[in-house]
Amino acid sequence: MSDGQSMAEHPLKWQQWLTRWDEQQRGYLPHREERFEVMLDLLEATTKTREPLVVDIGCGPGSLASRVLKRLPGANVVAVDNDPVLMQLGQAAHSQSPRRIRWIDADLRSPLWTQAPGMPDQVDAVVSTTALHWLPSDRLAALYRQLAGLLRPGGIFINGDDMAFGSNQGRIAEAVHAVGAGRADLKGEVESWDDWWRAIELEPSLAAAFSQRNQRQDGQQTSHQPSSYASHREALLQAGFAEVATVWQVLEDRVLVAVR
Ligand SMILES: C[S@@+](CC[C@H](N)C(=O)[O-])C[C@H]1O[C@@H](n2cnc3c(N)ncnc32)[C@H](O)[C@@H]1O
Repeated sequence: MSDGQSMAEHPLKWQQWLTRWDEQQRGYLPHREERFEVMLDLLEATTKTREPLVVDIGCGPGSLASRVLKRLPGANVVAVDNDPVLMQLGQAAHSQSPRRIRWIDADLRSPLWTQAPGMPDQVDAVVSTTALHWLPSDRLAALYRQLAGLLRPGGIFINGDDMAFGSNQGRIAEAVHAVGAGRADLKGEVESWDDWWRAIELEPSLAAAFSQRNQRQDGQQTSHQPSSYASHREALLQAGFAEVATVWQVLEDRVLVAVR
């Protein structure tokens, strides 16, 4: 029996791991649920079909994908990521709705990720949370061109993530960082990123996924200064999106919406 099959027999345990993931993410993003709500409100308001096809890029274990399915019961989600551990956790935690989430193992840095097996030709919406900040601006521009090709005309892209202030907004950026640093956050109260990873690494059924993850991460850059909102906007307009706006913001954390 493969790990995937044995994991599917314990959905509750994997749902608890997903809840624990959400808790540690909330430690870094106290407004995470509010941000999800805004994204879902927009998705619902702009989706014209009862059965929209939505792609979640950098989906992790499917926190946003599962919220999309709850909000839009007719939707189907294509969940894209390249972390084998988070993908396997997501598949196991959502094993009771397997037909509504299709998991695609693909690297968003690749010029060919939209052609990965199982990827649809055209979708109604693309969503993403806390995932694109690591992309350098040249790769972000290439990704946005790929999204423009994937979205139907009138389709929507919704990205919730940190976006920096521009180089001509240095004093504002400095003040925002000072405000952020001075704010009481939840980091001391909930499990940290490192502790969550140390804990889940002890799960025997994830051993193969961890070894693949370690191979993939070997020598890979893992952090990047987020691109500015202005460069996201410029890259989206250049890629052929008709409208771009910020619709929610707390300091550097924004929800950006773009209409194809
Ligand atoms: C902080 S997690 C956020 C996951 C999820 N969107 C959430 O909000 O809980 C960032 C995600 O981006 C994914 N990611 C990073 N680099 C990637 C790449 N090159 N291709 C695909 N996914 C990537 C990671 O594997 C991880 O799942």
